[in-house]
Amino acid sequence: EALVSSRMDAFPVLLAEELPVEAIRAFQNMFPNLSILPTQEQTLGGVLEAAKGVRAVVTTVKYRLDRQFFQALPDSVQIIALYSAGHDHVDIEAARERGVAVVKPCNVLADSVADLTIALLLATTRRLLEGVDLVRSGGWSGWSPTLLLGRELRGQVLGIYGMGNIGREVSTRAQAFGMNIAYKNRTPLPRDIEGGARFVADDKEFLAGCDVLLLSAACTAMTRNYLNAERISWLKPGAVVLNVSRGELVDDDALIAALLAGEVAGAGLDVFQNEPALDARYLTIPSVVALPHIGSATLEARTAMADSLVDGIERILLGQTVAQQLA
Ligand code: DGY
Repeated sequence: EALVSSRMDAFPVLLAEELPVEAIRAFQNMFPNLSILPTQEQTLGGVLEAAKGVRAVVTTVKYRLDRQFFQALPDSVQIIALYSAGHDHVDIEAARERGVAVVKPCNVLADSVADLTIALLLATTRRLLEGVDLVRSGGWSGWSPTLLLGRELRGQVLGIYGMGNIGREVSTRAQAFGMNIAYKNRTPLPRDIEGGARFVADDKEFLAGCDVLLLSAACTAMTRNYLNAERISWLKPGAVVLNVSRGELVDDDALIAALLAGEVAGAGLDVFQNEPALDARYLTIPSVVALPHIGSATLEARTAMADSLVDGIERILLGQTVAQQLA
């Protein structure tokens, strides 16, 4: 359905961080009265100060929007738009109490995150970084039948913990490589949405069957610290662990110990606890592929996120129901 898309000149919007040019343009086209918080002011205090007189603030995961933030939010602010799929950094209850609407993008980044997951899957199972390092260091002494043996994907089981939009896109891609997909979710999905993946309710059975375990669940009270020492001990020996959701799903001490002991053969991690100050021990383990939280870092996803937020803000202002409205 077409919206009345006249520009909203009188609606001041603040971007709490620089976005890709295409994304800024998407906001600017609808909200010409757009300001971008300068780098040196990008703190919670800076956002609150700049938000005076502003009607909508677009924030990123850089900012933890806690109760204090919402209590200190200037009265002018009606809408907080999250430029992220995750919202574990936002106190939704406090937003509700403050009477501010919170909206996030609809499902526009699953393809990008799933693509990156496949990159991590291949990078870990085929030991890509070890190969790159070997060549770059000049230490490669020629072809050898035993050099950097990895594992073929066909026939292996990919266990997906959190079968949301991202998990399902990874499932489709991994099946094209001949992998079998098991998944664990709060509830089993309807058959047509499951798309050939098998629901496994029991944690022990799920983990014991994984050649590769992917963490793609939102960070909630239930999923936090999911991959702890006990669950790692249930994993199939030599399994590979991938995490593209949130670092908080993993007990770092336990995973690092298992990697060092060779019980877990490798890890592909795009997210960490305390980013960017990740546990430095990860960087000393050759079988770890560590990325700087770039799952949704494509022009397509980042532009679509802006388009979706613009649409969401507009709908809220028109009093329409918005599927991705959290408060
Ligand atoms: C997301 O969209 O949640 C990404 O993790 C980065 O914000």
